[in-house]
Amino acid sequence: MHARPSVATAAALLGATALLLPGTAPAAGYAPARQSSPLVIAHRGASAYAPENTLAAVNLAARMGIEWVENDVQRTRDGELVVIHDDSLRRTTDVERVFPDRAPWHVKDFTAAEIARLDAGSWYDARWAGERVPTLKQYLEAMEANGQKLLLEIKGPELYPGIERDILRVLGSEGWLDPVHVERKLVVQSFGADSVRAVHEQRPDVTTGFLGTPAVADLPSCAAFADQINPDVTTLTADFVAAVHRLEGPHGKPLQVSTWTVDGAAEAARVRDLGVDGIITNTPDVVRDTVGADEVSPAT
Ligand code: G3P
Ligand code: CA
Repeated sequence: MHARPSVATAAALLGATALLLPGTAPAAGYAPARQSSPLVIAHRGASAYAPENTLAAVNLAARMGIEWVENDVQRTRDGELVVIHDDSLRRTTDVERVFPDRAPWHVKDFTAAEIARLDAGSWYDARWAGERVPTLKQYLEAMEANGQKLLLEIKGPELYPGIERDILRVLGSEGWLDPVHVERKLVVQSFGADSVRAVHEQRPDVTTGFLGTPAVADLPSCAAFADQINPDVTTLTADFVAAVHRLEGPHGKPLQVSTWTVDGAAEAARVRDLGVDGIITNTPDVVRDTVGADEVSPAT
């Protein structure tokens, strides 16, 4: 899924000390009227250049000047929320070496303390040795310090009954459910319609996204609980974008479309021209340089 870190730009950014993001002042929102350029959302952080879903990938996106970051949230055996994509720890950590007898190394079968021992950087490149699987709490604190905004994916919600309430609890305790964050800095999405619906029912003010490409006939039912419909780029058509945009979501605003995963400049230009509102990308620097960085209208 990722490209190896090979660009000079990334190397230069790795040495930077000052972030490029505006301080704490609320920036433009994510649920606005149509904007001239789509938002650029760093998929699993700047994951073409740093190990996915680590604080290194978040911080690198910040140094690139990328506000919006996408991640994946799951739950440990003892109830901690952690940021990781696969339901197994095998691909993105050294769990096989540390816990050789625990195959297939499912996230849900390990405690937070056990996961905290794992190296989540070396699999990608030796220079990232020592990166950890972040807890959601650690992740939110890093994003807040960077002034970033979060597209949070509830990954595999069928594996984690009640995870929506757990996520909302941590978001609340970390200050991410105050009016500024809710209006401008947070979207919660999932492939699980029931999970998105649960978030909407428990916190109707939170902006939500449904991942996938529903039939156009099913879009109105999605619009009851989702503000965004976020499809795989390989399924994206102008007709689909237009059909989504014709509907209003639960907050009385036109539904939006953020598509994934878009990495090349040509593909970024293509989906921009199809009218998407957001582009989820492993190479946010490339996409930003392609589509521009126009400000969007505030969400409120
Ligand atoms: O944000 C959408 C995208 O991340 C969904 O696919 O497999 O990368 O989580 P995946
Ligand atoms: Ca994801």
